[in-house]
Order: sequence, then structure tokens, then C-alpha cells
Amino acid sequence: MSVEDLDGRPVIIGGGIAGLMTALHLTPEPVLLLSRTSLGADASSAWAQGGLAASLGDDDEPALHLSDTLAAGNGLCDAEAARRIVYAAPAVIEDLARLGVRFDCTPAGALRLGLEAAHNRRRIVHADGDGSGREVMRALIAAVRSTPTIEVVESIEARRLAVEDGRITGVLANCSTGPVFLASGRIVLATGGIGGLFHDTTNPLGSCGQGLALAAHAGAVLADMEFIQFHPTALDGLGRPMPLISEAVRGEGATIVDETGRRFLDGVRGAELAPRDILARAVWRHLADGHRVFLDARQKPGAIFAQHFPTIASACGRAGIDPAHDLIPVRPAQHYHMGGVAVDGSGRTSVPGLWACGEVASTGLHGANRLASNSLTEAVVCPRWVAESVAGSPDGGGKPAMAPDLLAPDPRPVRPILSRVLGVTRDGEGLKEAARALLLLLQRHDAASDPAAVGLMIAVAALLRRESRGAHFRTDFPHHAAVARRSQITLDAAIAAA
Ligand code: SIN
Repeated sequence: MSVEDLDGRPVIIGGGIAGLMTALHLTPEPVLLLSRTSLGADASSAWAQGGLAASLGDDDEPALHLSDTLAAGNGLCDAEAARRIVYAAPAVIEDLARLGVRFDCTPAGALRLGLEAAHNRRRIVHADGDGSGREVMRALIAAVRSTPTIEVVESIEARRLAVEDGRITGVLANCSTGPVFLASGRIVLATGGIGGLFHDTTNPLGSCGQGLALAAHAGAVLADMEFIQFHPTALDGLGRPMPLISEAVRGEGATIVDETGRRFLDGVRGAELAPRDILARAVWRHLADGHRVFLDARQKPGAIFAQHFPTIASACGRAGIDPAHDLIPVRPAQHYHMGGVAVDGSGRTSVPGLWACGEVASTGLHGANRLASNSLTEAVVCPRWVAESVAGSPDGGGKPAMAPDLLAPDPRPVRPILSRVLGVTRDGEGLKEAARALLLLLQRHDAASDPAAVGLMIAVAALLRRESRGAHFRTDFPHHAAVARRSQITLDAAIAAA
């Protein structure tokens, strides 16, 4: 194993929007950014369609954005974290535009603001119609590539963090030349989500909770792990991962119908624009009752569909569907993880020397159910605070203290368990059985062990939450508890509880 002394440089693990933004905010401090693939190739950020939520409309203000965020979050948001993030959002959109992100604008040059579920105002800033993530990534990658102090290392996978005397001292990674130990006392996780642990997901399959496993093995506390968001309208019919049919399509008037043409959401408050957890459950139940579910975009957006939603139109085209004339078959799919590594307002985890931002982190913004398009907002807002904290922290790295672990994580044995038991609804018996099966997989110490560790923490957190709230719906505990409490877990605690 080779050992690299980074001369005190911090390391960012992950090349999605949060990782790129953190690297840029650290400038001019030299920094190393690790990407599992070529930069941007496998980042779920690039797949984001809707856009970034920010209160920029004349009829809008941060206080309204905050109240929509807290309402969607079902009592579980950290109100102060949410306040800080949504109030910072409008200025960061301007920063991104200055950095070269080409947001969609009216002929007069004003930002075009979209509407998504559970937002009481039009406040979704987007680009290329439904290619928002891709456009933000394009501009950020260009900025990073032209910043000489940011060294990007591609095709490298972080496998373990080294901890000495309770502090981070480096990261052990696999790259094409074999294992390497990067000695650094400042590491930022920006590794994204967990879609690859599920059969039905809208995420790249390579996103399988690697950052959560790194943090958990380093002893970090994780929060709200049981809260997994299912998007109600993923395109059913093109294989996996499932193309997303953005909520923005419903924001422009598309309806949800079944095979008889009935709008079966009549009794659901907010109907097609109800919060995502509520809509996902309604669609899920209708499918479980033996129906088929479709998005009907034929009237609205109708003929302008392909112009407004080119990415979705092309995915539909691959399935032989023309949204202006045909119904689009949909079903819920795993889309986002509200839980993650517990962080404070500066992205600091419970392990000194380790920070986290983006989907892998749990800032408290999303609560029990993320408000649409708040995730990209979080991913562009928080890195400034993370970078300020990293820049002001001691930089000591150490010597490698562990044996190299060469196995790339293999989520395949974990996928059927999580897909069956940790879906739109859960129950205690299923969760207990899943926890036992995941513990056995973890103890095999093979390629499935890290994905199993992540699954185990999710299953145990879900088992311990004996209530239904937001995206966590227990059929055996269908009501809210009187008091909303965020949950915390460590890997040791999950193993002990399984
Ligand atoms: C969507 O475009 O429907 C998804 C946006 C999001 O997940 O925030």
C-alpha cells in the first residue's frame, strides 16, 4: 500500500454538487477531491431535474419558504438549520449565475420559477427545462477544472477512514494502482445517497451509502436514518434505475389517473401537489389494490411537454411514449435519503476532523419529508459553512492504522431486503427480520458488508421509531407520537439492537 502525505491538504470525498462547491469555497487553500468515477459521471446531482428552491419571486419571501419546509418536514425539521439554509438560498442562486450556471429565464431576463408539490409559491429555479442538476454540474466542473489549487483524483474509491485518539487521520482508498493511504486530518464526506440499495430507484445504482459506511465505521453518529423519500412518479417500464418524471410536470398541470382514467386522488388534500410522502403512499396503495397508475400530461402541459421537459420526453420516447398523446405509466421509487451523518451548522460530524455535506449529511433541513428541490439548495448553500470550518481546523494527518480492504461494495444481497421491508410502508415484524438478515450479511465481512451495515442502521432506526411520520409509515403504528424527536444511531448501537 502506498502512503501519500498531503502536506496538510484537506480531502473531499465525492464529486457531486456538494463536493465541488466545498472545493471551490476552500479556494485558495489547496485541496484534494476524490471522485469514484470520472468527475460528474456517476453523480446523482447531475440527474436532478426539478431545480433549486429559493424565494426569489415577487410574491415570495424566505419566511414562506421556511414555513413550507417545516410543514412538509412533519415536525421533525431542525427549525434553526432550516431557517439558516432557506434564508441563504437566494444569494447563492445569484452566486451560481455569476459562476456561469445558465438558469432558465424569461425573454426579459427574469428567472423562470417553477412550482412543485407542497410549495405555496413558484420558487423552483431551473435550467435546460428539466436538466437543472446537469447544468449546475457543468458549470461547477468547469470552475473546479480551472482552479489550480484543486487537485481532482478520479476513479478512486474511499474504503475506510483512519481514526487515532478519536480524530480523523486519513483515508484508505482503492485506485487503479492498488490501495493508497492519504494522510489528512481534515476530510469532508460528500458522497451522496443510497438509491443503489433499492431495486426501484431514480438514483444512479453506484450510490449505495458509501459515505454513511465510512462515517459509521469511524464511529460517527448518524441521524434520522429511517426517513427515506419515495418519489411518487418514476417511469415504470424502462428498467432500473427508473427515469424520474419530475414533480414540475404536475406543477404544470399533469394529473394522476388509473387504468380507468379516474383521478383517484380526489380525497387526498393537495391532490397531485400533495407532499411527496402522502402522494407516494396513495399511489402505492392504488397499485397494491391491483390498479395501474399513470401520469396524464396530454392536456397540460400537452403540446409544449417536450420543449419544457426535454430529458423526460426523451426517456418517455425510449419507452415508446409521447407524453403529449399517451399516458405515462408511473410507480413510486426510492429517490432521496433524508437521514445521514449527523452534522452541526458547520457540517461538523461527531468525529473531529470529519465533515459532511449534501445528501450524505443530516443537517435537519428535511425533517421527516423533504420539500421538493430543497436538496440541491442545501447542496449549494452548506458548503460555504463547511469550507469555513475546515479552513479554520488543525490539519494533522497520521499513519495508516488498518489493513487494506480491497473489496468494492456490492449492494446486490442487500437490495431485496431493503426493497421488501423498507419501502413506502413498514411494519415491526418485517423490520426485525430485515435487521437479523442484514446483521448476518454484515458479519460475513465480504463485499456486501458495508451496504449491509448501512441497511442495518436504517432498519434498526425504523424499528425503534414506533410511530408514523412523514416518509416513515408503520402499518403497526399508524399515528404520530405526541412529541416529534429526531433519531440518532451508531453502527455499534445498531448491531447491539439487531
Ligand atoms: C422532481 O423534479 O420531481 C424532483 C425534485 C426533487 O427531488 O427535489
